[in-house]
Amino acid sequence: MDLESSEQDSEEEKYSSVCVGREDDIKRSERITAVVHDREVVIFYHKGEYHAMDIRCYHSGGPLHLGEIEDFDGRPCIVCPWHKYKITLATGEGLYQSINPKDPSSKPKWCSKGIKQRIHTVTVDNGNIYVTLSKEPFKCDSDFYATGDFKVIKSSS
Ligand code: FES
Repeated sequence: MDLESSEQDSEEEKYSSVCVGREDDIKRSERITAVVHDREVVIFYHKGEYHAMDIRCYHSGGPLHLGEIEDFDGRPCIVCPWHKYKITLATGEGLYQSINPKDPSSKPKWCSKGIKQRIHTVTVDNGNIYVTLSKEPFKCDSDFYATGDFKVIKSSS
C-alpha cells in the first residue's frame, strides 16, 4: 500500500461512524459522553432529538455534559457550568444578549457569535446510536480543546 492511499484510509477511518450506546439508555439518561476516534463528545437527547457536540466548551474548556439545557430566544441551548455561555444544541452557535447603548430603554436582543462549538452527526440504527465526526472544513473554536494538549485521550505515539 502506498503512503497516499494509507493516509486516505486513515482519513476515512477518522470519519467512520462509531456506536456510542443504545437508544433506550440515552433516552433514559438524556445525555451520554463518548470518545469517537479520540475526540470526546457529549450526546444530548432533548425533546425527541439527538445532538452531539465537542464535550469541552469553546470558551475555556468547561465540561458541557454537566450543564443545564435551557431555551433562549426559542432555541434550546446547553449552558456551560463554568461561565454560563449559551450554545445552541442544533448548530453550536454562541448566543449573547446585546443592548443598544444609545437607547438604554430598549430591550436586550439575543444575537449569535456564529458557530463556536463543533456539532457532530447522530444517527440511529436498529436501536443503536452512532456518531460521525464533523468534516466541516472551517476552524471551530472548540477544536482547540478537542485536540492537542487539552485532549484527555492521548494517542499512543
Ligand atoms: Fe464554558 Fe467559560 S468555559 S463558559
